[in-house]
Amino acid sequence: MKIIYAKDYDDMSKKAAALLAAVVTAKPDCVLGLATGSTPVGLYRELIRGYEEGRLDFSRVRTVNLDEYCGLTADSDQSYVYFMRENLFDHINIDPANTHIPNGANPDAAAECARYDALLDAMPADIQLLGIGNNGHIGFNEPADSFAVGTHQVMLTKSTIDANARFFAKPEDVPRSAYTMGIAGIMRAKKILLVANGVNKAEIIEKVATGPVCPQVPASVLRLHPDVTIVADSSALGCLQKSCPALISEE
Ligand code: GLP
Repeated sequence: MKIIYAKDYDDMSKKAAALLAAVVTAKPDCVLGLATGSTPVGLYRELIRGYEEGRLDFSRVRTVNLDEYCGLTADSDQSYVYFMRENLFDHINIDPANTHIPNGANPDAAAECARYDALLDAMPADIQLLGIGNNGHIGFNEPADSFAVGTHQVMLTKSTIDANARFFAKPEDVPRSAYTMGIAGIMRAKKILLVANGVNKAEIIEKVATGPVCPQVPASVLRLHPDVTIVADSSALGCLQKSCPALISEE
């Protein structure tokens, strides 16, 4: 696991975008595993800039997203499919038919999860982008007693509902469950890139980097993957900088 220091959000977004862009340039028909949340928004802005300036071509790129709330339709402005259109897909030359997100409007969880796993089997990600929840969740793989392997429906924890309430008109509007790629789906990616910023992420980043690998801290499993890069800003690295500065590299 490589941990790269960024001085602030902007620097984190630029450094992480450069890593993702390198994959697109090297393999024009690559599969990008994408994430939602506020953290990757700046990175997506950088990718859009790369496209506008003629440096990046997404015409053959395919994407698989990590997760989606259950019960929201694609036109709900809180759905992750809407988020992806707003923050990336509508602003680059990607073919919408090449973008894949679990269908939160499908009430048949078993069928939806099986459909998504078959899709992931057919197109494993060349690079999987991740944010991280304050409790260490990746995608919506919440702290649990065991690592969930495949795509599954998950009941969101109170910590996640509280953290995501800022995006909804009222906390009661936050969906109680989601479909998420499982840990195996994430770990199958050839490369993994996790972004984190802000002081709220400092404790969890330290735990992920130095604590035990356990399902109670879902992101800790990333230490078992051979090619993981974390790009985090100085605030998110605050705890690690005190306890284990040698783990942090400048580039
Ligand atoms: C949501 C998403 C995660 C994301 C997390 C952190 O719960 N399912 O994929 O990493 O939020 O969000 P933020 O980047 O806003 O802190």
